[in-house]
Amino acid sequence: MTNLPLAPNDTPRGSLACVGMGMTLGSHLTPLARSHIEQADVVFSALSDVAVEKWLARMNPDVRNLRPYYKEGKPRIETYQEWVDLMLTEVRAGKRVCAVFYGHPGIFAWSPHKAIEIARAEGFQAHMEPGISAEDCLYADLGIDPGSHGCQHFEASQLLFSERRIDPAGYLVLWQVAPLGNWSVGAFPKGPAYRQVLVDLLSQDYPLEHEIIIYRCATLPIEKASIRRAALRDLPHLQLGTEETVVLPPSQPVKPNLAIRARLAELDKLEQADISA
Ligand SMILES: C[S@@+](CC[C@H](N)C(=O)[O-])C[C@H]1O[C@@H](n2cnc3c(N)ncnc32)[C@H](O)[C@@H]1O
Repeated sequence: MTNLPLAPNDTPRGSLACVGMGMTLGSHLTPLARSHIEQADVVFSALSDVAVEKWLARMNPDVRNLRPYYKEGKPRIETYQEWVDLMLTEVRAGKRVCAVFYGHPGIFAWSPHKAIEIARAEGFQAHMEPGISAEDCLYADLGIDPGSHGCQHFEASQLLFSERRIDPAGYLVLWQVAPLGNWSVGAFPKGPAYRQVLVDLLSQDYPLEHEIIIYRCATLPIEKASIRRAALRDLPHLQLGTEETVVLPPSQPVKPNLAIRARLAELDKLEQADISA
């Protein structure tokens, strides 16, 4: 095969792949995500663990850590916008960019979605590779099947700021409870009064003695998942890490919807009548 010279419109175009590293070092990275990392010209990373950062550094010679952009007192959204700008600058320069985020890159992660949206709008190839998230680990470690009772997920601060309908017959998963009310990283943790507001809101649907589960999945292969149980009323005074997710199991049985069941039974009868006609 002869090597034809590149036509002007064949000049290499930048691209963006946002991939997930999974939660646990060494065991969650998919072969496809790994190949994006290895083949990229530039890799950006926002990971949860220094050990994972070191592992990633062995896969590509140009890994740039995004975490130092977090600053005490600086609004998170400002940091996340900077991450988007950094990724897009390299894409526009014609580089194959891979951005690696811990867990799933699209779960509670603003920058990957935004960067992909902008890159596509500018005509670049951009996509997301899913990863194993804290949510996936939670189902495995806590033995929860979201299909059994249904499962709602909320960012804890968002649950306070907006009017939402909580369904206490299903599971409720609350993310980012530790930094509740904090819009910057590294700022002083807010006091128990902030979590008390959350407890007061939840107590409209759950008894105060209802069991809550504070969950942290393993990020290193030598670790075990941490599963702590407490009463809802104690949430304001519990020690809570930024890597912990709070789960409320159902507090009520699922009520049958008698009106809809009757309607479906009518449809069954009509269908049966059609078949026998
Ligand atoms: C910015 S989100 C990142 C989620 C991540 N993209 C994922 O796919 O799981 C941070 C929140 O994820 C949850 N989280 C992070 N690390 C965790 C861990 N090791 N175990 C359980 N939940 C975790 C916590 O609720 C934390 O506040």
